[in-house]
Amino acid sequence: MARVTRRMLCRLLMVLLVVLGVYLLFLSEKAMGKKCTKEGSLAMLQKLCALYAASKVDGNLCHKICSSDSLQYERCFNRLSGKKVLQVQLDGRRAMLKSRKAELSEYRPLFTGLLDGTDASKFSPERFMTQEAFEIIVRDHVQTALGTTFSISKEELLRRAFLEPESLPKDLSNFQMNSLWALLQQEEYLFFTFFKDHSFFPKIYGACGHFYVEEYVPPGAVLQQSLSHGVRERFQSAAWQPRAQAAKDLLDIVKATETDFHSILHLCDVKPENFGIVDSKVKAIDIDISFFDKTMGDFLEQPNCTKHEDCDFFDCHGVCNLAMKKCTRERKNNNFQAICKDIFRRKLGNAGLLRHPPPRIEEEVSQLIQRCVYPDEAERVAKGSSTETFRRLYRLLSDSTDREM
Ligand SMILES: Nc1ncnc2c1ncn2[C@@H]1O[C@H](COP(=O)(O)OP(=O)(O)O)[C@@H](O)[C@H]1O
Ligand SMILES: [Mg+2]
Repeated sequence: MARVTRRMLCRLLMVLLVVLGVYLLFLSEKAMGKKCTKEGSLAMLQKLCALYAASKVDGNLCHKICSSDSLQYERCFNRLSGKKVLQVQLDGRRAMLKSRKAELSEYRPLFTGLLDGTDASKFSPERFMTQEAFEIIVRDHVQTALGTTFSISKEELLRRAFLEPESLPKDLSNFQMNSLWALLQQEEYLFFTFFKDHSFFPKIYGACGHFYVEEYVPPGAVLQQSLSHGVRERFQSAAWQPRAQAAKDLLDIVKATETDFHSILHLCDVKPENFGIVDSKVKAIDIDISFFDKTMGDFLEQPNCTKHEDCDFFDCHGVCNLAMKKCTRERKNNNFQAICKDIFRRKLGNAGLLRHPPPRIEEEVSQLIQRCVYPDEAERVAKGSSTETFRRLYRLLSDSTDREM
């Protein structure tokens, strides 16, 4: 009895400590002003709308974003120095407003002086950039940003780079071009619009100036354990079926990153809250730190090193050439391993998506995750989705979701 009571006391103490820790973290973030605020977010939108009123920015959703009838602010997610992420209702539909920087002037302008002065009509025509020149700049930029030269026509490349090319006016004004230019400097916008045919990226509904409006795809309680989720949502996420379904979708995403593009898309920021679920489908909602092969290699080979860990770039692990003391272009792990390690498996701050499987497959799930995180040499160098471990885990998840349905 005394032992039970002591154990209960210990547990209670631990729970209290965790609650205290979370509260202190919350207070310190607030006190240090690191977290976004409603006032700050609204001030940012006000500045955007002032530019729109002065005809210095444009976009298909400016009219709605700048009308208090259509836009309602709900909450913000970003830290002050990070990408701006606002949750809003736009015409009664929930959506996300995002921009890497708060202000348009923080992006490279199409040409210097464009945003100076107050009167948009003061620019002399010879300072205007022709649409043709702009299209060439866009094509070069897209190819550099995506680390490849595409064998597609200029028309097709532009069709993919812009939201609604069919509705693009024939003669874009300097300010319209500048707004598009600020959007194209944001990797996430570029990826999601350029690869809009891929179902595992959120839809981009439109933009205004440097802000783009993205489909609402929340991580929800299934992917992200958070105190903010309601009891009902947390109860549902405790069931194996939705978690196994989400894990299977994540494996589909791993496969797509290896087979759907001109080269492998390396996901280097793998954590549950960077994926969301809409209509029971998982999508990747934060791919700022994701690169195709060439750009990945360029990043990995930069540092000097004395051990392999010196060459890690977020969740993409590099290899040190110990003799030369220089990182190589090689990535040591792959997307499959990163997802097993940082999403499927239990770790500090993450209960693990594949926790508590049905007892009949518990042992096998645990072994497969272990083999995925610590692969043998043959599986380490292979594409993740081509390995036996991937196939077995995929089959197991498919069988178990079919069976539980
Ligand atoms: N499309 C979206 N739908 C719903 N929530 C989102 C969406 N995009 C981002 N969020 C929420 O905002 C958080 C931060 O956004 P994210 O794009 O990951 O920015 P950061 O680069 O700062 O991590 C996400 O973890 C998620 O909770
Ligand atoms: Mg993120």
